[in-house]
Amino acid sequence: MNRSVTMILAAALAAAAFGCTQFGGVATLRGADTAAADKAPAEQLAYTGKKPGLQKPIARTFSTQPPLVPHAVDNFDEITVESNQCMECHGMDSYQKKNAPKLGDSHLDAGKKLVTMDRYQCNSCHVPQVDAKPLVDNTFVGHLPQKQ
Ligand code: HEC
Ligand code: HEC
Repeated sequence: MNRSVTMILAAALAAAAFGCTQFGGVATLRGADTAAADKAPAEQLAYTGKKPGLQKPIARTFSTQPPLVPHAVDNFDEITVESNQCMECHGMDSYQKKNAPKLGDSHLDAGKKLVTMDRYQCNSCHVPQVDAKPLVDNTFVGHLPQKQ
């Protein structure tokens, strides 16, 4: 494509884009520039669980599901390179003392007490609960193997 054709095309595209926003034809769904950081939600809902030790586990809805976190995680959800606050109760050295469920066997380096790096960021799979309205209706019922 020669240079003048490219320039005419670019000008036409710019005019089209300008026309759309100018006359309200196209807008972002979030109402913000896509390159801008997402706005924080107006308020954070309180966790439905209280401090660890007071809850029953939440029933799992399918096999291989990461169990949901039944307790609140205020003040101890920090996971950094140096420390992992979940491990202070769920780690192999602490779970008995803290009377907490021990982390999944699949999370440990074979034969060691260390958590594998793909399981280090606990809250990417285990999520605490809030009483939030579902964003969309759904008919999910779960699927657990039948007990024999
Ligand atoms: C102060 C100790 C403590 C800390 C810190 C802690 N937990 Fe727990 N956790 C517990 C106890 C105790 C239970 C048993 C249920 C209860 O009493 O709330 C539990 C239950 C759970 C369960 C449910 C297990 C199952 O089989 O259903 C998950 C998942 C979990 N915690 C994940 C986490 C994650 C992720 C973190 C870090 C953000 C964390 N916990 C931090 C003590 C703790
Ligand atoms: C990649 C997803 C993933 C990550 C990351 C992860 N888990 Fe899990 N977790 C699971 C799944 C799936 C299960 C259930 C099956 C199993 O034991 O592997 C589970 C089970 C558990 C259980 C219940 C164990 C049992 O025997 O019932 C605890 C407690 C737990 N995880 C804690 C943790 C903690 C603490 C961390 C961070 C150090 C963590 N998990 C990181 C997926 C994950």
